[in-house]
Amino acid sequence: MNGNKKALLLVGSPKSEKSTSASLGNYLCSKLEGHVSAIDKRYIHRIYNHEEKIKELVKLINNTDIIVLSFPLYIDCLPAPVIKTMELIKEERDKLENKNAPFFIAICNNGFPESSQIKLALRICRIISEECGFTWKGGFAAGGGGAINGAPLKRKSGPGRFYVKGFDIAANSLKDDEDIPQKAFDTVSKKAVSYNMYRIFANLGFRLELHPTYLAVMIISGVLLLILGTPITIIGAIDNDPMGLNIGIAFLIIGLNLFINGIVFRMNIKKRSSI
Ligand SMILES: Cc1cc2nc3c(=O)[nH]c(=O)nc-3n(C[C@H](O)[C@H](O)[C@H](O)COP(=O)(O)O)c2cc1C
Repeated sequence: MNGNKKALLLVGSPKSEKSTSASLGNYLCSKLEGHVSAIDKRYIHRIYNHEEKIKELVKLINNTDIIVLSFPLYIDCLPAPVIKTMELIKEERDKLENKNAPFFIAICNNGFPESSQIKLALRICRIISEECGFTWKGGFAAGGGGAINGAPLKRKSGPGRFYVKGFDIAANSLKDDEDIPQKAFDTVSKKAVSYNMYRIFANLGFRLELHPTYLAVMIISGVLLLILGTPITIIGAIDNDPMGLNIGIAFLIIGLNLFINGIVFRMNIKKRSSI
């Protein structure tokens, strides 16, 4: 690959910058740096409803060599705005007299640990690629994306280790103008977290985040600890009693933590239910 090529990352998650889709796409594209001269990025949920932005995107695509589409699996498929955008791109590209055939790479991550559930969505991506006149380079099935939760991919250890290793192999092949080897796709699809561990943490996370009773218990315990901790701390300080002071401060810290977390979770739920 020469350094004059251009890449475009399309992020198909409504969580935009904070999504796992962005983390995975950013990582693969960052590995192309030095081999491509520019990497553009578009968040699909911010443009699919804007005619002008879609037209601008189609122009950009006609000047791009590699497109990476990274999205979350929604009901075994692509999110609706991603499908809509790809349909609009096809429509606009059909009007062009001269069009390029950029490489098209898809990355799909899902909530369940098994990447096999992504197969159907990647087959759809292949058809989209053909319909838009792109050059299909393959699709990555990144199972267990929830374990990343939008954090940047960096390390060759931890839950993202197989994504990192697989994308490294893919980027090396792309820079040598070779096809992405099957090994890269297989590595990304490897299960990094055991099903049982994943289930335990997912269940815990959902319960804490969504059950109003858990949140009420968190907030009330926080308030009680703050009420108890304040006089214990003051008496400990007045009596110069380090034991009492330490217990009081511990109550205050834990109480404040429970209270703030409870309120933040509660606000998150309210925000989501009002979307
Ligand atoms: C509406 C909706 C539908 C989903 N459908 C599936 C699904 O069919 N299979 C699955 O494994 N995960 C499913 N998930 C979970 C997401 O794929 C998962 O949370 C993913 O990591 C989100 O990635 P993101 O951070 O890039 O948005 C769904 C999530 C939502 C919000």
